[in-house]
Amino acid sequence: MRLAQRMSKLGTETAFEVLARAKQLEREKKIEVIHLEIGEPDFDTPKNIKDSAIKAINQGYTHYTPSAGLMEVREVIAHEVSRTRNIKVTAENVVITPGGKPVIFLPILALVDEGDEVIYPNPGYPIYESVINFVGAKSVPIQLREENEFRLDTEELKSLVTDKTRMIIINSPQNPTGGMLTQKDLETIAQICISKDIIVLADEIYSRIIYEGEHHSIASVPGMPERTIILDGLSKTFAMTGWRLGYGVMNKELAPYIAKLVTNSASCTASFTQMATIEALTGPQDDVDKMVEEFRKRREVTISGLNDIPRISCKTPKGAFYAFPNVKEIGWESKKLADYLLEEAGVAVLSGTSFGKYGQGYLRISYANSVENIKKGLERIKEAVKDL
Ligand SMILES: Cc1ncc(COP(=O)(O)O)c(C=O)c1O
Repeated sequence: MRLAQRMSKLGTETAFEVLARAKQLEREKKIEVIHLEIGEPDFDTPKNIKDSAIKAINQGYTHYTPSAGLMEVREVIAHEVSRTRNIKVTAENVVITPGGKPVIFLPILALVDEGDEVIYPNPGYPIYESVINFVGAKSVPIQLREENEFRLDTEELKSLVTDKTRMIIINSPQNPTGGMLTQKDLETIAQICISKDIIVLADEIYSRIIYEGEHHSIASVPGMPERTIILDGLSKTFAMTGWRLGYGVMNKELAPYIAKLVTNSASCTASFTQMATIEALTGPQDDVDKMVEEFRKRREVTISGLNDIPRISCKTPKGAFYAFPNVKEIGWESKKLADYLLEEAGVAVLSGTSFGKYGQGYLRISYANSVENIKKGLERIKEAVKDL
């Protein structure tokens, strides 16, 4: 089969491949694999949200909606984003999408031309680099270093900006490191973007999953609302990855173009999922608080367990539900080590290089699993690396 040339530039998210291999091993070898690879909360979606979706189906919310989303839902999202980011946005600034991911794909498609440059975090969520390359732009990684708590270095950022820089992508709290940008970092990034007329894609999908400090949005910095696209959604906060509900909050001029791309692709986001968003955002938030507290406990177990393994060290993540241990002393390439841990020890983790070249020397461990399984997984890793 002859594929279009652009397909050779498209990357992927290895978590899904590792999950598939782990499931295959479970079937073929009849072993129990400990899953520390996939980035999704293992909790059930809160009951009040499920009930509101069922009610919406019974009320007939089973048809197409406008591509940008139902007006009443966009209004609720606008209200929530205005409140949490301390900015003033309305429904016209909001486009609802099937999951947060399209808020990476569609704005890059709409705003970035071939030959433009986009700066993105590395190690970072692999879809950024994939989509930048896919549209024929130049992907310019900015390295996130452990010694800088995995925050980008704003001086280095300045040195990477050129006349061709069209967009800077930031992600805080960050996947895969759990690092968070400070208010000062955001102000400096904002200054750069304003002076050079650069757009920011602010991936804030983990903004409610924070253990230390508070979430700051670059959109709150004066001069930034009009040049920021906020990516957020329900997947992580409400354990709703399968529901596919995300949203982008952006300049009113841009929103209709993003909606037009939705018309050309998904048409719209499922209508009852949209209706359940009202309950998620305006209903009781106790379940979210409980999930975050549970993640906090798992974080302690994960970080202390990792630091207990000779030749592995791990910084404490500030948000999200990932640990990014340094395994350089073991002396194996990260991918080889991750494969070995899966095949020989039955623990599925991701290679740091699944998040870009600067992830070499690290693994990503998702602690979205029970304390019992995390402990078991870490014991297996300790045993497996002993003689390497
Ligand atoms: C940093 C980051 N952005 C966006 C997404 C996409 O989220 P969704 O499942 O809502 O498409 C993820 C999911 O893993 C993520 O880690």
